[in-house]
Amino acid sequence: MDKPKLVSGFSKLSKRGKIRWLVENFFSNPEEVARELKSFWYGDAQKQKIFDEFSENTLTNYYLPYGVVPNVQINDKVYCVPMVIEESSVVAAASSAAKFWLDRGGFKAEIISTKKVGQVHFDWKGKDVQKLIYLFPALKERIFEDTSHITSNMRKRGGGIVDIELMDMTHLEPNYYQLHFTFETCDSMGANFINSVLEESARILRLFLQAQEHLSIEEREVTIIMAILSNFTPECLVRASVSCPVSDLGTFDEGRMSSEEFAEKFTKALRIAYIDTYRATTHNKGIFNGIDAVVLATGNDFRAIEAGGHTYAARTGQYRSLSFAEVKDGIFHFWLDIPLAIGTVGGLTTLHPLARRSLEMLGNPSAEELMQVIAATGLAQNFAAVKSLVTTGIQKGHMKMHLMNILNHLEATEKEVKEAVNYFADKIVSFTAVREFLQLLRMPQGSNANNVTIKA
Ligand code: MEV
Repeated sequence: MDKPKLVSGFSKLSKRGKIRWLVENFFSNPEEVARELKSFWYGDAQKQKIFDEFSENTLTNYYLPYGVVPNVQINDKVYCVPMVIEESSVVAAASSAAKFWLDRGGFKAEIISTKKVGQVHFDWKGKDVQKLIYLFPALKERIFEDTSHITSNMRKRGGGIVDIELMDMTHLEPNYYQLHFTFETCDSMGANFINSVLEESARILRLFLQAQEHLSIEEREVTIIMAILSNFTPECLVRASVSCPVSDLGTFDEGRMSSEEFAEKFTKALRIAYIDTYRATTHNKGIFNGIDAVVLATGNDFRAIEAGGHTYAARTGQYRSLSFAEVKDGIFHFWLDIPLAIGTVGGLTTLHPLARRSLEMLGNPSAEELMQVIAATGLAQNFAAVKSLVTTGIQKGHMKMHLMNILNHLEATEKEVKEAVNYFADKIVSFTAVREFLQLLRMPQGSNANNVTIKA
């Protein structure tokens, strides 16, 4: 067995020291790997320091493509939308959907609500819950008052604690209660704000009960289990939609599919995504291709958005599609409801140089406006995916991008790229087939090309 590669005090090593330890212990070519890791450092040491300090044990930067989708019309305003994503054809698909809907009135988006949730989970062993219920209004007032040192700035901006409810959860778990908070956090995502308020409220709850002299010793005791925001934010909700007369949808698959046929297949595909969990998962993945890419580009927390979105998709007790489509009175409607707890101030949104540029590109939007842009991009992505699926299939578009990636990998020249694109227009792309095609092209003139067969 290999000797274990344990280390102590790793976090105290300098960045160069960490790299040295890593490359000497895990790679056969340490010097080369060290050089490679360092090659991804910023030239500007000040900027690099910002990145290093986002996290811990940072060694280098991990690059992802940063692209844009122009001509995204949402509520009569046209945006150029930044996207950070590694999957080929996502940006191209969003662009084609943006163009498609630009010619048909663009996307509409509306905020349904903007409230966020946090909970203090606690155990109380008293036998008579009525005593807690009786005390709760005074406790609530105390929490509002005694957290004001944390909430006053947010209140000035129009936010803060909206409400607190006492939840008796003892039918599910012995002695278990919650303080269920709702918050408005204006243009910030508000995670730090919410968690600070909750931890302080937990302390207030404990002290408040301890001071109730008319209660028994047992009733004055409360055990705080935890105090934390919830990433399930069904009341921080945005709707994005598109619609147009079915006849305006045009024809598809090079004229082989009429607009009526398309609308019928599209709405059927959406109903399948509603009733079948396997399909719903992939369907929603397509939506998150768009959502995550903008969330990342604007320095927001994509894990929070994913977690909340998927829980929302399962809110009926079954995991279902987040988007819907129907034809009513000859009009094709397609829409998406999604919870998006994001921010445009604070956190990475202001620290990450490219997140700042993304927000500038979007016209420095409020959190509500950014929610609308993100939801519309998710809908665009979903439209492009389902449109491909019910017409030509997705492999045609994917394979074009796949071919380009292989050609790049094999260092094809511009001329070779052109010839390969022509050649593979009606053939299946595989790494071997492309490599053999290039081998054939690269053979010196006059050599016996007949020996090479392309396994397309
Ligand atoms: C691929 O990343 C996303 C799709 O599978 C989404 C879908 O099937 O709707 C194309």
